[in-house]
Amino acid sequence: MSIEQLAETAQAMVAAGKGIIAIDESNNTIAKRFEGVGIPNSEENRRAYREMLLTTPGLGEHISGAILYDETIRQSTKSGVPFTKVMNDAGIIPGIKVDKGPQPLAGFPGEVVTEGLDGLRDRLKEYYTLGARFAKWRAVINIGEDIPSGSCIEANSHALARYAALCQEQGLVPMVEPEVLMDGNHDIQTCYEVTEVVLRSLFDALYQQSVMLEGTILKASMVVPGKSSGDKASVEEVAESTLMCLKTTVPAILPGIVFLSGGQSDEDATAHLDAMNRMGPNPWPLSFSYGRAMQSAALKLWSQDLAGNVAKAQAIVHERARDNGLAALGKWSRG
Ligand code: 13P
Repeated sequence: MSIEQLAETAQAMVAAGKGIIAIDESNNTIAKRFEGVGIPNSEENRRAYREMLLTTPGLGEHISGAILYDETIRQSTKSGVPFTKVMNDAGIIPGIKVDKGPQPLAGFPGEVVTEGLDGLRDRLKEYYTLGARFAKWRAVINIGEDIPSGSCIEANSHALARYAALCQEQGLVPMVEPEVLMDGNHDIQTCYEVTEVVLRSLFDALYQQSVMLEGTILKASMVVPGKSSGDKASVEEVAESTLMCLKTTVPAILPGIVFLSGGQSDEDATAHLDAMNRMGPNPWPLSFSYGRAMQSAALKLWSQDLAGNVAKAQAIVHERARDNGLAALGKWSRG
């Protein structure tokens, strides 16, 4: 796979007015989401739910790619069409989550490191044959008393860079995701400082591992105050802090940055993205790769009458995609 082909895929992922829907919840994570709306976490319910999302009429107007989970990339619609075909027909690039989740970092209480490098080359080969053209790996950085440590940041950056290099070797665009969690009572300045250190460490590690930035996408968390801090930052403050932090750490050659929603309300996630794009021009396209902020309203409605509510839930998915697509252009308006 040439760097040109990787760069082309990366650019398509952040095409103007388009973003990504993250539907790569592991079976444990989707269990929590289903439990929240009272649906049993059966394989058939997971399949039916992802079919509802992926067959949303017109989804490809605002969605460039979808991140799938290992089970999902092997599944098909009820009538037997593989999800990857549904996506390709709609102009939506299949992506795949390839990390094996965060595990406690030995010797560093309260901190985690993402696992999944062993055997990754072979798994990537298989995912490519299954149709995936990009992959995702999420590192989790906790903010708390005396954490994150430099050791935790370094361990996660190293793993992200090793994963990214393997992806490029196998023809997949790596989406590198160092998520600084919103949990905690820290202020927005602390989130800024941690995010800055984390991104510096990540781009240093990517350089050390010879990762080609032209064929890489960053999935970033926004700079926000901790959820239990009691602070409420304005839309402008979040947008300005996040942009400043990214501009000082992320090379301009990167094809694009997409954000996770991380527990923000649907409206906040959209408003923050919109504000950052209105503050442009920026060095890179800024778009979305939302999980909860794309799905939660639709999941709630779907859960009330599964098969009966498919069309209504899809209308909400389309609306969220359209709103976030407008925000990726800085053209969204509230209400
Ligand atoms: P949220 O938008 O719900 O944070 O999920 C995005 C994601 O893919 C996290 O890895």
